[in-house]
Amino acid sequence: MGIVDGASFPQWHTALEPVLPENQRATFRQQAGRPFPPELVQAAHDELEGFVQLLRSEGVTVRRPEPIPQRQPYSTLDWTSTGMYAAMPRDVLLVVGEEIIECPLAWRSRYFETLAYRPLLKEYFHGGARWSSGPKPELVDAQYDPAWTDPAPGEPTHLVVTEFEPTFDAADFTRCGRDIIAQKSHVTNAFGIEWLRRHLGDRYRIHVLEFDDPHPMHIDATLVPMAPGKLLINPERVRKVPEIFRGWDVFHAPTPIIPDSHPLYLTSKWITMNILMLDEHRVVVERQDAPMIDALKKWGFTPIPCDFRHFNSFGGSFHCATLDVRRRGALDSYLD
Ligand code: ALA
Repeated sequence: MGIVDGASFPQWHTALEPVLPENQRATFRQQAGRPFPPELVQAAHDELEGFVQLLRSEGVTVRRPEPIPQRQPYSTLDWTSTGMYAAMPRDVLLVVGEEIIECPLAWRSRYFETLAYRPLLKEYFHGGARWSSGPKPELVDAQYDPAWTDPAPGEPTHLVVTEFEPTFDAADFTRCGRDIIAQKSHVTNAFGIEWLRRHLGDRYRIHVLEFDDPHPMHIDATLVPMAPGKLLINPERVRKVPEIFRGWDVFHAPTPIIPDSHPLYLTSKWITMNILMLDEHRVVVERQDAPMIDALKKWGFTPIPCDFRHFNSFGGSFHCATLDVRRRGALDSYLD
């Protein structure tokens, strides 16, 4: 589970614009390199501690990364940046079977983010895990379209990342036994998905899906396989259920009720979909999200409420904040 220690606004960069909520873009430009409001960081910190306790009481082993300096500038031969946080292990590390992969992230502000997890990665390696890393990206200007602007309604989604070199965030992939569902996004390009496909080889099948989302970044507020044969979808983004899920029960996520006054720096209100399945029944859900709790009960799941709304401000919820490194059960195929 991630940590919010030192969480800071990243240095401003072209790649941020397409995925920030419109009402946050000016704030990110103004606050670049400064800490997020300390009272919010503290509230999110406390919620994470509560989430740790909750998971432990449900029998889950919880490990945490080590804080690294987030506001210390770093450089490559081409650019300089500062960091953001180590709050979302789901974004930066991809666990597939026995393997844990450090992802080649497209944001300069996340270039060193996996360092916070190095002590754990070494330990997992010593414990038998395979540990690998995508090609270290250069993240030079050619990786981004400097002319990116918001698409007009009805215009096709145009991505800010180019195909200069492979980049991907782990959260643009969702695992479903031997199948992996992927989306191209403002951080994940076709080159990155192809790198991962060849890296994993024919033990896994990667399905690249496209959704109705002009600002795609991370699939886990769009399409969430909850259990074999059970799929949660964002009804605004998934207009037609992909063929591979033929025969599955499809649940429409209820319209989010997060008030406009609550700051969401990095995501839409659909972060309510970012639930965490502990097994095929138990699911961690935000305590104030009554519509989601009611819906989960109606669909036959066992919701476990947890306070997390302040953490949501930082761009994720229970799925983003965690990375399930080890689960019991077989690796099966469930898709058509
Ligand atoms: N980028 C996703 C959203 O805002 C998480 O819904």
